[in-house]
Amino acid sequence: MKKYTGINDLDSIADTIQEAIKLKENPYQFEKLGQRKTLVMVFFNASLRTRLSTEKAAKNLGMQVTVLHVSDAWELEFEEGTIMNLNTSEHVKEAAQVISQYADVIAVRAFPKLENKEQDESEFVMNSFIKYATVPIVNMESATAHPLQALTDAITIEELKTKKKPKVVLSWAPHPKALPHAVANSFVHMMQELDVDFSITHPEGYELNPAITKNTSINHNQEEALQDADFVYTKNWSNYKAYGKVTSQDPKWMITKEKLGKAKFMHCLPVRRNVVVADAVLDSDRSLVIHQTNNRTFAAQIVLKKLLENSAS
Ligand code: CP
Repeated sequence: MKKYTGINDLDSIADTIQEAIKLKENPYQFEKLGQRKTLVMVFFNASLRTRLSTEKAAKNLGMQVTVLHVSDAWELEFEEGTIMNLNTSEHVKEAAQVISQYADVIAVRAFPKLENKEQDESEFVMNSFIKYATVPIVNMESATAHPLQALTDAITIEELKTKKKPKVVLSWAPHPKALPHAVANSFVHMMQELDVDFSITHPEGYELNPAITKNTSINHNQEEALQDADFVYTKNWSNYKAYGKVTSQDPKWMITKEKLGKAKFMHCLPVRRNVVVADAVLDSDRSLVIHQTNNRTFAAQIVLKKLLENSAS
């Protein structure tokens, strides 16, 4: 594997999930693999889980880790051929090559601005790093994808499912701010690849990118959709058609204990209590959110392990 910017970069998703579960049993078994190798994590946006779990994953493999918050560096230019006489001081052409001098793997987090769909979907930040860096790139959440989170969620479902083909429902929930589509997109993509009975529920008008949801079943009646679910994955996203707008904050879509029934609750975090999900769910043993955060380490670790093994071969 030469990069991990989407779940399709994995040779086999099913095998990778099993390998991650094995790694979790003994996280230090490959601690020599990353000796004298450095992971540089480049953050254009805030993070708690991705920042800490990816660093832990790298250190479990014996790597050194450097974190760069882009707000502390020179303002980057991404356009080709532009005359840089305004605010930007350094072109990504140089920056990505420079970071590559200090890194064996570069991980990048760059959210969308949610102002211009075409620009966000061009993934110009992630694609610039892929183009100009001379070492492998890991996506720590880009404009349209969060593949480390999706791998985490697949590991969690595989570990905790009690039937061969569990029913998994992705439910939209309200939120006061305009949030990206990346987590939902990658979760949908991952569920399409697994042997699960998968459907999506959201208010009318809140369709995700149809090129991603494809033939996945969508039900606008949340209570009906959640019936007999084994896993309910909850996430807000802003309107995709009215791009980046918050056109509903309907509190009736919040996940409650009654709606959840016997299902397990999943969310990538951070989560707004009593807006997205009721306290009674998050504080119950049906909530898997902390289990998911632990699995973030092993998702990142299996990805870094594959990248290190590839560069060694
Ligand atoms: N789920 C997730 O990516 O969390 P952070 O934004 O805190 O990294």
